[in-house]
Amino acid sequence: MIKKVPVSQLCVGMYVHDLGGSFLDHSFWRSRFLIQNERKLRRLQESRLEWVLIDTGRGVDVSSGGSGAVAPVPPAASGSQAAPAVSGAAQSSAKAADAAPPSATPEQQAFDDARDIIDGSREQVRQLFADADLEGKIDLRQIEGLVQDMADSIEGHPDALTSLARIKRADQYLYAHSVAVSALMTALARTLALSDDQVRLAGMAGLLHDIGKVRDPDETPGKLGRPIQPAQELLRKHPQSGAEVLRQDPSVPPEVIDVCLHHHERIDGKGFPDGLEGERISLLARMAAICNYYDEVTSTRPFKKGWDPAFALFKMLKSSGQFDMDILGAFVRTVGRYPLGSIISLTESELGLVVAQNPDAPELPVVKIFYSIRWSHAIPERRVNLADPGCTSRVLPVVAPVDWAQSGLPVPPIV
Ligand SMILES: [Fe+2]
Repeated sequence: MIKKVPVSQLCVGMYVHDLGGSFLDHSFWRSRFLIQNERKLRRLQESRLEWVLIDTGRGVDVSSGGSGAVAPVPPAASGSQAAPAVSGAAQSSAKAADAAPPSATPEQQAFDDARDIIDGSREQVRQLFADADLEGKIDLRQIEGLVQDMADSIEGHPDALTSLARIKRADQYLYAHSVAVSALMTALARTLALSDDQVRLAGMAGLLHDIGKVRDPDETPGKLGRPIQPAQELLRKHPQSGAEVLRQDPSVPPEVIDVCLHHHERIDGKGFPDGLEGERISLLARMAAICNYYDEVTSTRPFKKGWDPAFALFKMLKSSGQFDMDILGAFVRTVGRYPLGSIISLTESELGLVVAQNPDAPELPVVKIFYSIRWSHAIPERRVNLADPGCTSRVLPVVAPVDWAQSGLPVPPIV
């Protein structure tokens, strides 16, 4: 049921169906979302909104102890313009329909919310890049809302957004990659205990770091094949082209421009465009180098299969001179030694999909076992927590599970 609720009566777990005001009254870029934590609730309470519509089928209902005015809204009138005025008489109806908890688990809700963010954000980033390129203007207000939503999602469930953001449609790669890097930057900034302001800049820089590719015909929708020459030349120029686009708008923070310009620098000075070394590369740019590389190598594109996330971390940890290893250590803590969605080999000759982390035992994640290496075929799925005291199964050294990959069998869903 759709109900009209004063902002003062909102609580964590409610699902916002529509925001009751103009876009000038709030910083949200989506009108439908779950209030998944106190931080998001505070954003609503600190906005100039007076009421919102909630969907009690997708989130918790108003409390039976609530004394304020709550009005059920007929489906046909659930748009913000058509919603009826708050009515005292409606309170009894609200109480009667009270306490209908959502059927989804908190984990499913977190994944649904992360999916909503990703689906909506890719179109928003596409529009943002087009406006920046054509008009030289960046709508920072829109970015702020998106970046805050990502921070909310990551605070509520650290893995949902970063694991889902890895999955991309080929014709949206540039925008999807920007959203993924932004999510990873936000999560990494939290691990590094950076200030709220730095977290916000990290998310914003992640979104805009590759804006210099907006004129690259191989990165824009419609081109699904292997990049053609002169790809190398375009690749080497995109940091400067991006910085030029961003400098057109004086409201873009200098830290964000710096990340755009220097996210391909290497710690050993062999990167581009300026060959900066060590700490001459800013902290945010060193973070971006890691998040950008990880997302790029784990993404499947029409011309290459993405690396398994755990294998990507393994290779990155073995690399030398490319990354700031302290920040890389923090990145591994952020996404987990075996990131969600990794496929790992277990001592019983089985393959498991990582579906949850154990923060106190990063080497022992929760897995969904789905394939027998010994018999080379799929087996009934079972969920196993490797950290359970009675569990003897262990993770084998990271190797690409070749026979499974060649079988063409699908990977089970995470939730
Ligand atoms: Fe780049």
